[in-house]
This record gives sequence, structure tokens and C-alpha cells, in this order.
Amino acid sequence: MIELAREEEPQPLLEEVPLAPLATHAVDAARGHWPAVPFTLRIAPEAADLSIPGVPARLSRLLTNLLDNAAKFSPPGAPVELSLNATELTVRDHGPGIAEEDLPYVFDRFYRAEKARALPGSGLGLAMARQIAHAHGAELTAERAPSGGALFRLALPAS
Ligand SMILES: Nc1ncnc2c1ncn2[C@@H]1O[C@H](COP(=O)(O)OP(=O)(O)OP(=O)(O)O)[C@@H](O)[C@H]1O
Ligand SMILES: [Mg+2]
Repeated sequence: MIELAREEEPQPLLEEVPLAPLATHAVDAARGHWPAVPFTLRIAPEAADLSIPGVPARLSRLLTNLLDNAAKFSPPGAPVELSLNATELTVRDHGPGIAEEDLPYVFDRFYRAEKARALPGSGLGLAMARQIAHAHGAELTAERAPSGGALFRLALPAS
């Protein structure tokens, strides 16, 4: 009753979430949503059985938000690459990338870079993604990929 009165959701139960299947499902779903985008998935052998304690639906949302951005902001036909190794998960694209001056703000609620404003969205996807990362003891950062494009890095919690 008190929980209802406070409009709080009961705490979801933590479970061991296997990351390779989670990434595989996220990429499969993204392929369905973005048929013109070639998604690639690389799971390092040492990450095949990796899992972290967490909430599967929230972690799926995090990955979906990153994959959706990569697909939305990069040109049709350019690959979007998800990689998982023992310490981090990365999503990298070959679009325009994020300008140096926008990098500090992309995780802010409602922030959308000048160039992004022609595309649909409200600027909440990355704020949500970072919040989910923090709730799992992970760190989500953005950078410019060496050969152009955006690179998002999810540093996994040390087990
Ligand atoms: N892969 C990317 N390439 C280039 N710019 C990006 C990329 N991902 C995010 N951005 C920039 O960061 C901003 C914030 O991203 P975010 O996902 O929070 O918002 P959005 O995609 O614009 O809207 P929403 O996610 O709410 O639909 C984007 O508007 C864009 O300027
Ligand atoms: Mg988004």
C-alpha cells in the first residue's frame, strides 16, 4: 500500500544476466528494425560465458538505445559493429560521429546535437542508457572512433 501511494515500482529482482545471448538478441532485433543496416556482432571467446548481475529488460534497453542511435545516425549500408570482450562491450558506427564539443553533453537529458535535430528523437535515449549502466555498476562513455563514426564503450563491472 505504501509502495503504491509513493508510486514506486517494487525493486526488480537481480539475476545473473548472460551477456553474449543478450547482445545476440539485441542485434537480431535491430536487424529486424533496420533492414538496410548491416549489423555485425563479435563475441570474444573469453566473453562467451560472461554474465553480470542485473535486470535483463533494462540491459536490453541499454543495448537497443545504442544500436538504434548507430543505425539512425549513420548512412544506409554502413556497418554497425557490436563487440563484447571480457571487460567491455562496444557499439561502433561509421556515420558522422559526435563532434568534440558535443561529447560532454550527449548523455544529458534532451540534449541533441545541432546536426541531429533533423532526425526524429527526443534526446533521452543516452540519458536512459547511462542511468541503466550506472545501476549495474558499469560505465558508459562516448568517443570519436579513430577512422570516424561514433564509438560507445560500456565498461563492465569487475566481477
Ligand atoms: N551514433 C551516433 N552518431 C552520431 N551522433 C549521435 C550518436 N548517438 C547519439 N548521438 C548524438 O547524441 C544525441 C543524444 O542521443 P540520444 O539517443 O539521447 O537522443 P536521440 O537519439 O536524439 O533521441 P531518442 O533517443 O530520445 O529517440 C543525439 O541527438 C545525437 O546528437
Ligand atoms: Mg537515441
